[in-house]
Amino acid sequence: MGVIEKYRDRLPVTASTPALTLGEGNTPLIRSERLSAKLGVELYFKFEGANPTGSFKDRGMVVAVAKAVEEGAQGIVCASTGNTAASCAAYAARAGIPAVVLHPAGAIAAAKQAQARAVGARVLEVRGSFDDALRSCQELAGRSSFALVNSVNPYRIEGQKTAAFEVIEQLGRVPDVLALPYGGGGNTVAYAKGFAEAGASLRIVSSQAAERAVTLASAIRIAEPAHLDEVAELVGEGRVEVVTVSDDEITDAWLEVASLEGVFCEPSSAAGVAALAHVELGPGSTVVCVLTGHGLKDTGAIEALTPATTVVEPTLDAILAEVANA
Ligand code: F0G
Repeated sequence: MGVIEKYRDRLPVTASTPALTLGEGNTPLIRSERLSAKLGVELYFKFEGANPTGSFKDRGMVVAVAKAVEEGAQGIVCASTGNTAASCAAYAARAGIPAVVLHPAGAIAAAKQAQARAVGARVLEVRGSFDDALRSCQELAGRSSFALVNSVNPYRIEGQKTAAFEVIEQLGRVPDVLALPYGGGGNTVAYAKGFAEAGASLRIVSSQAAERAVTLASAIRIAEPAHLDEVAELVGEGRVEVVTVSDDEITDAWLEVASLEGVFCEPSSAAGVAALAHVELGPGSTVVCVLTGHGLKDTGAIEALTPATTVVEPTLDAILAEVANA
């Protein structure tokens, strides 16, 4: 059961909203063994990489695309660092409408672009940043019958908030802390909304890259967050804490999640885990880190950040010699 069907009563959908789904949501909540012990907390990973297109974007996208179809849009358009584009393209194909996606030229992970191309989206590489691409999309959507499906579209936030409901359902209680990456801030705003609607109060730790415009975590390479004002308001109300982490901290957290837990996410997704070192965590408290995208999204990062493979002769001696070196 997808997000629209499962959470129908908590979403702005009607009988005339198409029952669009690729089976999004219901992603695993994985208990961390080793990092829990290291941090002295009960840590869980909400593995949003298990969504149909491999990122958290599918929850909000399914609602945004269904509403665009309901409202008579001819197609959909988005700007993206890759994941939004992959999700937008897939749900457009599913809904039978065209998708146009814009991304910064040469600056997104290859697998994400492949996803958008595979399902038939028109992929345009903009000579500029993500922020430039978003401005162009807003203009295009303003002048055409194409709906903008970036997270400034409120239906994206509505669908995305279901992740907060799911965390509570899966844990059987409200966590003390939820940590997640902060790119444009849509996901942060959505979790805050979802928990508030569920009557839950907790600490939300939103983790941004120190060097936003050039971080190695390409998914969150965003200099001007679209939801900056809303996030600032949530900070002012004491509902969100913004933490800044370096690329080295993101990389270390990403490697730890992979090698200590066997959970493979993309580098940006580990920003929330990296932020845990910057906040006071009560001993034994329950902490959920949202891992926003699958590791297979960004295999280029693996080339850069992990040891190379070794080519060996297919003989026992050669193999044993290498294994002994390991
Ligand atoms: N993690 C991943 C894997 C992302 O792709 C993004 C955003 C974020 C975290 C940040 O989420 O923007 O809601 O604060 N990706 C967008 C995209 C920008 O185009 O795919 P946010």
